[in-house]
Amino acid sequence: MSYDFDRQIERRGTDSAKWSYFPADVLPMWVADMDFASPPPIIEALAARVQQGVFGYGMESKTLKQTLVERMERLYGWTIKPDDLVYLPGLVSGLNIVSRAVGERGDGVLINTPVYGPFLTAPANQYRTLQSAPLNVAQTGRRLHYELNMDGLAAAVQPHTKLFLLCNPHNPVGRAFTHAELSEIAAFCVSHDLVICSDEIHCDLLLDGTQHIPIASLSPEIAQRTITLMAPSKTFNIPGLGASFAVVQNPTLRKQLEAAMAGIVPHVNILGMVAAEAAYARCDDWLAALRAYLTANRDFAVEYVETHLPGVNYTVPEATYLLWLDLRGLGEAKPAEMLMQQAKLAVNEGAWFGEGGEGFVRLNFGCPRSTLEEGLRRLCAVLEQRV
Ligand SMILES: Cc1ncc(COP(=O)(O)O)c(C=O)c1O
Repeated sequence: MSYDFDRQIERRGTDSAKWSYFPADVLPMWVADMDFASPPPIIEALAARVQQGVFGYGMESKTLKQTLVERMERLYGWTIKPDDLVYLPGLVSGLNIVSRAVGERGDGVLINTPVYGPFLTAPANQYRTLQSAPLNVAQTGRRLHYELNMDGLAAAVQPHTKLFLLCNPHNPVGRAFTHAELSEIAAFCVSHDLVICSDEIHCDLLLDGTQHIPIASLSPEIAQRTITLMAPSKTFNIPGLGASFAVVQNPTLRKQLEAAMAGIVPHVNILGMVAAEAAYARCDDWLAALRAYLTANRDFAVEYVETHLPGVNYTVPEATYLLWLDLRGLGEAKPAEMLMQQAKLAVNEGAWFGEGGEGFVRLNFGCPRSTLEEGLRRLCAVLEQRV
């Protein structure tokens, strides 16, 4: 079956965060959702459930748990059990719950920056101390390649550090970490006795032939100290339906997590559960087509930046639909704010992602090619005169 990712869908007037936050003349390429319709099996499953007409309290779906167990085995050779799965309404909640569940008030949580903003705020929300080190970055021509900064992490870790938050694939720098990189960070976490919380929400958004490796799949020893956070939300463009899950193979850690959630965190929405089941059971060909489209969009954007934006350094993401652009050459403290004013283009301010993000912006290419072209044209029109 073929899918039309070029189709423009009007999202204004739907209370879309991405499209309704800024005035109508602003092109939104910021918040990480895509402008594509979800796969037909999800829409059909939701329509059938809505048609039934009764929306009472739901139960945790056992079918979905079995689907997830089989998926982890099939994709990663990672053997988990249905009982290892804990449903969550979202992964920002997940990051906060994990920060609360591991250690005590005042304990340390370790991260590399730049990274998705809630990694910076979740620890403090839960009375933990943030310890961070910037990612390493290598530059070839204008292409940037980021790696975990093991020396920086070794310098930042303290005796009271209890938790390491990993983002893989990485938002915003687009890395899908290799087996060797994951093994190194896992060994570091073992030697400092850290729990690993691995946010793998972007794990299906793989470009080219990139493979995803869940860090917990490295060995049973690593699995015992890892909480993996995943969701169908980014992949199948259903973040508004609030269905996510954690994989926690260590029963003690799982109890800690459930205790941190008790009475506060709501059940997953019943429609979210229906959508998640359809997503994981019946959308593989849609996902393959999406990956091909996103890969072509990434190549188009990189080529455009290389050709038309000579002063701009850039990443070539291996995963995600996020391009990380280095606009430090502009000498602007807040380049996204400048682009909003002068180009009517909404991108994310790099500083929001923490140390190492200042002077960068994040551009979302999860959109029809024509939208991407328009966004890049707007960027170019302003930068041509500046860089
Ligand atoms: C790495 C990462 N984690 C979590 C989220 C948000 O997850 P949720 O919408 O489930 O709270 C995002 C959204 O962009 C993300 O990029």
